[in-house]
Amino acid sequence: MQVLDLGCGVGRDSIPIAQSIQAYKGKIYCIDLLPSAIQLLNQNAEQYGVTDTIISQAIDVENFLINKNTFDYIVACSCLEHVSSEAVFQTKLEEMKAGTTVGGINCILMSTEVKEIDVLTGEEQVGLIELNLSTEKAFTYLREVYTDWNISIEKSVQQEIKEEKNGRLIIFRSNWITFVAQARD
Ligand SMILES: C[S@@+](CC[C@H](N)C(=O)[O-])C[C@H]1O[C@@H](n2cnc3c(N)ncnc32)[C@H](O)[C@@H]1O
Repeated sequence: MQVLDLGCGVGRDSIPIAQSIQAYKGKIYCIDLLPSAIQLLNQNAEQYGVTDTIISQAIDVENFLINKNTFDYIVACSCLEHVSSEAVFQTKLEEMKAGTTVGGINCILMSTEVKEIDVLTGEEQVGLIELNLSTEKAFTYLREVYTDWNISIEKSVQQEIKEEKNGRLIIFRSNWITFVAQARD
């Protein structure tokens, strides 16, 4: 079992996946832009006894070329909304697809329609995120790219996170989408 975790962070998904594939000599490739995240991921891998199962790299997802027909499962959780353009988003999806083996799965979770609401004034601003797609547009791209795969999950839920930003209390509001598709035999 070969797995790829794009934007893995400190391993919230990578570590449990590594634990479940370790016995079968599987490998999970974990990439993240931040060297500090990769450092913590490696510490967590050690703590949970999965260093032999994890291969990690600090790299921008845009520069990480996914080899064709390599991965059984690719997860991108809170990663693809950080690419620099819609064109890159589409290209990366195509690359993920081409990098997946027959019967393999791609799981994409991302924020769309991100807004920041000032808690004191109620003022609403467009969220500061690299790729702030409308929910409909994100689904349109995903459906187009994965048109010849089986789509098993496609859902969107609104989420709100209260946080402090530059001394202001804001609500980070977005539609959190989940899209899971499987390559047909
Ligand atoms: C909200 S965290 C999610 C981490 C992990 N996937 C999870 O679900 O816990 C988003 C991660 O994406 C990484 N990230 C942001 N832009 C990226 C990029 N261009 N290439 C690779 N990773 C990126 C961040 O460094 C961060 O660790």
